[in-house]
Amino acid sequence: MKDKILKILREENQVVSGEQLSAELGVSRVSVWKHIRKLQGAGYHILSNSKGYQLVASHDAPFPWEFPDRSPNLHYFPQTSSTMDIARELARNGCPHFTVVASERQVKGRGRLQRAWHSSEGGLYFTVVLRPRIPPALSFKVNFCASLVLTDLLRRLYSVPATVKWPNDILVGNRKICGMLSEMEAESDAVAFVNIGIGLNVNNDPSAEEPRAVSLKTLLGRQVYRKDILKQFLDEFEHRINTRLHEDVIQEWKTLTSTLNQPVRIVTIRDVSEGLAVDIDETGALVLQLADGSLKKIIYGDCFYQDNQ
Ligand code: BTN
Repeated sequence: MKDKILKILREENQVVSGEQLSAELGVSRVSVWKHIRKLQGAGYHILSNSKGYQLVASHDAPFPWEFPDRSPNLHYFPQTSSTMDIARELARNGCPHFTVVASERQVKGRGRLQRAWHSSEGGLYFTVVLRPRIPPALSFKVNFCASLVLTDLLRRLYSVPATVKWPNDILVGNRKICGMLSEMEAESDAVAFVNIGIGLNVNNDPSAEEPRAVSLKTLLGRQVYRKDILKQFLDEFEHRINTRLHEDVIQEWKTLTSTLNQPVRIVTIRDVSEGLAVDIDETGALVLQLADGSLKKIIYGDCFYQDNQ
């Protein structure tokens, strides 16, 4: 019902009487009023007086009613431990492909290599459960696809010069705007689910905890509607995953990366390697040229640019 009320208020863009809303929606005026109160409570600025209701400003959060086509499979929480935990639970219990878990705050947000992910209010934190019909060895494509789609979207929608840093951080200049984490479970030779968790700095200010992080708000000098970014990302990501997962993902990813030809330091759980990043192979591994000229392939790790990051 909230989605329908918002649709009418947005289309009319002026005061709409309770009578009109109740007639169009086929519910009582009291029921309309109760839903309006809930929207106001959720942070929507809706004027209400004897003439009716007028939407002045929406909240920017990804509330499920802002995604009418997705709402059965979009779970929103004001606070969670981590959207990865909820998504894993849902996935193990058989939730459908492309289930989304989003949260306003995470008290135990997780980063790669067992780091914590500070999740200050105003950021966009979500995990997508995917069930691609692929062998586990190809699941890396899903991660590359996610960072490719989001980097491209940040460039197109907000004109920020975003680049991907291997394996799937998104930077603007040398500052990190987005981190991604993936978790996969397999059943015999097939992927049971791949969960992609994304933390995007939108209207939060991450610089206190992470001096080398930046948010869209800081870059643009204005607030951005998180629901709009999420909507666009989910549509484009879903389309790409369902239609073109295998096609040129790595090639296209390479056109958006700032990692190639960089002197880098790669930290894995086991060791640290330094060298020049010369390629990403067809399995998503980073090819490093070491000081003695030999090549080393690294499947997973944290990448630091020697110059600045
Ligand atoms: C990294 O850069 O180390 C990865 C960060 C991933 C953060 C996101 S926020 C949503 C999802 N939930 C988590 O606990 N982590 C991921």
